[in-house]
Amino acid sequence: MTDMTTMPSPAEVQHGPDGLCDNKRAALDEIINANIHRSGAMMVILNTIQNTIGYVSPDMERYVAQKLRVPVGAVHGVVTFYSFFTTQPRGKHTVKFCMGTACYVGGVPQLMEKAKALTGSEIGKTTPDGQLTMEVCRCVGACSQAPVVTVDDEVVGKVKPNKFPQLIKKLLEG
Ligand code: FES
Repeated sequence: MTDMTTMPSPAEVQHGPDGLCDNKRAALDEIINANIHRSGAMMVILNTIQNTIGYVSPDMERYVAQKLRVPVGAVHGVVTFYSFFTTQPRGKHTVKFCMGTACYVGGVPQLMEKAKALTGSEIGKTTPDGQLTMEVCRCVGACSQAPVVTVDDEVVGKVKPNKFPQLIKKLLEG
């Protein structure tokens, strides 16, 4: 008869000491093994992880660093430098607030405050229902359209503060 007191808890079954579940580790191994000998392997691997898994968590950074035999700091530096990478899953929609000079002066900080109040969420986070992620980004090259936000992959310029709540509500519902 199995001694229930010695059985691993569900958390122990799902996650190894590296913090990764078996499925995630297998997916990472596949990506790493397919790209480890390419030039610029770290960037290729991190890009592929972001595109296929959807984010690069600290546990995943550690795993990649260990496999590539590089310091974790080197991997972490890449993930935090490029806004393309996220450390947690993105929501169904992503709004990015341009923080370039023209947009900053043109009212993006006020749009961010409105968005935070409307969603009850923070910039850099995803709403608990997984619907919307809000982030900041660098100049997207549409300065004459300031203030600019991007909605998923679309650049939206000349965002009017009084129309902005409608946009956010639509994303929260759709
Ligand atoms: S500063 Fe926002 S698009 Fe250039």
